[in-house]
Amino acid sequence: MSVDPTPWKPDTSNRPEMRVIFEMFRVLPRQGPGSDEHTLRAWSLLKNLPSRPEILNVGCGTGGDALAIARNHDVRTTCIDIDQPSLDVLAQRAAEEGIPERITPINQTLTDLSRFADRSFDVIWAEGSIFIYGFTKALLNWKRLLRPGGYFVISDVVWTVDNPPREAVDFWNVGYPDLQSVEERISLIQDAGYELIDHFSLPERCWWDVCYTPLENNLPTLREKYRDDTDALLEIEEAQAEIDLFRKYSDSYGYEFFVMHDRLAI
Ligand SMILES: C[S@@+](CC[C@H](N)C(=O)[O-])C[C@H]1O[C@@H](n2cnc3c(N)ncnc32)[C@H](O)[C@@H]1O
Repeated sequence: MSVDPTPWKPDTSNRPEMRVIFEMFRVLPRQGPGSDEHTLRAWSLLKNLPSRPEILNVGCGTGGDALAIARNHDVRTTCIDIDQPSLDVLAQRAAEEGIPERITPINQTLTDLSRFADRSFDVIWAEGSIFIYGFTKALLNWKRLLRPGGYFVISDVVWTVDNPPREAVDFWNVGYPDLQSVEERISLIQDAGYELIDHFSLPERCWWDVCYTPLENNLPTLREKYRDDTDALLEIEEAQAEIDLFRKYSDSYGYEFFVMHDRLAI
């Protein structure tokens, strides 16, 4: 399969209004749907890892997923994100938990991983971040980073019904037109040369508890803070719209974990 060098959409990380998005999300327990329980469930599916596996955590945010693993396992995790304050929070949390040697935060865009040599990692971990680059592109372009037998773990939003409501399709078409069903994702995984080990869905509470509820609670404060900033207000209302959409259509889409390893590298 040939690798398309162009991301599925331009990297928007330098848009000035991204500062408000980062501000909204970095104060949350996690920056996307998830839970320690589900992170560790995915981790438990990885077999025959070396004694101190090297992990690349892509789009780590403040490290909810990375820390869940690192506080329970002797790992070396390179955590990349482009939001420096999130990386600072992660470093501080790792220090407070007494596991700084297990976490290395690096300010690095996930759209260019050329600084990392081939076969550098035993595991690539991407909870809630693959949409930034594109599902297929990540499967194909990041495979070179895995050591033989290495694992790739992704959590991503998927359609959970055959005919999702038009309002939900229209909403996601703007931010994530790449959204597909679990079956379509599995097919891409296999086409890209991986063996799917398992996949499982996140319950609705994983969206609310660590993400949407604290985010929604904070929106009035942000509306007040940015009342004279049109761009910022647009992003704030976009966040509200995303929450409202989930409240209405959570039976049509959800988050799915995919745990796979590189078939050809074994
Ligand atoms: C949905 S959050 C997921 C965070 C974390 N993995 C979790 O599950 O809590 C996406 C993360 O990707 C980061 N991000 C956005 N654009 C990025 C880029 N171009 N390169 C690296 N990280 C990026 C954001 O700052 C954010 O922390």
